[in-house]
Amino acid sequence: MASCFGRNSLNKGDEVIISAMEHHSNIVPWQMICDEREAVLKVIPINNKGELLMDEYKKLLSDKTKLVAVIHISNTLGTINPVKEMIDLAHQKGALVLLDGAQAVPHIKLMCKL
Ligand SMILES: Cc1ncc(COP(=O)(O)O)c(C=O)c1O
Repeated sequence: MASCFGRNSLNKGDEVIISAMEHHSNIVPWQMICDEREAVLKVIPINNKGELLMDEYKKLLSDKTKLVAVIHISNTLGTINPVKEMIDLAHQKGALVLLDGAQAVPHIKLMCKL
């Protein structure tokens, strides 16, 4: 995803936002592609309860934000992030969102009927 999206859509000065609680799989690819494309990787900080600082997230979002790539449920902390609000905020800035649902899928009841 990072190389495909990055090579097609990231340009110098564009910004990607991740959080401080990402799995390594959702950090390193963004570091590499931001480096390659001269884009800027920004990180939402967390507090000592392992929660995202939403005010800081709002400050990081800008018209330069092209993608927000965040974890839904933390594999280390168990934190469930307020992803609905986060996605709405990102979309208001015209940014796409990648949600890492690796832990959420087995732990949250899916709303769809198969
Ligand atoms: C939240 C989360 N994201 C990503 C991964 C990594 O998944 P993969 O090994 O498929 O890259 C894991 C693995 O446990 C995970 O817990």
